[in-house]
Amino acid sequence: MKKTIIGLFAMALAVTGLSAQASEMVITQLQNSYQDEGAAGFDAARGESLWMQRFTQQKTGEQVNCASCHTANLKQIGSHVRTGKRIEAMAVSVNAERFNDAAKIEKWFLRNCKWTLGRECTAQEKGDFLSYFQSE
Ligand code: HEC
Repeated sequence: MKKTIIGLFAMALAVTGLSAQASEMVITQLQNSYQDEGAAGFDAARGESLWMQRFTQQKTGEQVNCASCHTANLKQIGSHVRTGKRIEAMAVSVNAERFNDAAKIEKWFLRNCKWTLGRECTAQEKGDFLSYFQSE
């Protein structure tokens, strides 16, 4: 029994470790492709300030930012500003399921940048966001 518990614990650790590694690989891969598009020198602090910057939401006229749904603390669970639906924490350090699928990341960047900023994010901005997510 004890062995099984230890075994399960070790397995859980291995799986978490692997997915955190997967996130790092996917983030590096995306940042490399942003560099191919001309972006350079990704900066977590710049990512954080854009995360907090407020914009006028195009449909409602409200002041919104990325934190409106994801909170200002990436380690916290967010809640969708419209539907109230739970949004899991963004920081890889507390949520190993994050950022392990490049297509999913691009899909949400597109949707959320349009919703929040009223336009698509540039390669530079997306790379800065990823550095911010990784830094927390
Ligand atoms: C109106 C609510 C809302 C706002 C505002 C919002 N998001 Fe999101 N975001 C979501 C939802 C819902 C998901 C998908 C569910 C999930 O991944 O937990 C998501 C997922 C993501 C993902 C995918 C993460 C992954 O694990 O692959 C990224 C990246 C992201 N958002 C970035 C941003 C950025 C950058 C901003 C600001 C420009 C932003 N979001 C603003 C609701 C929002």
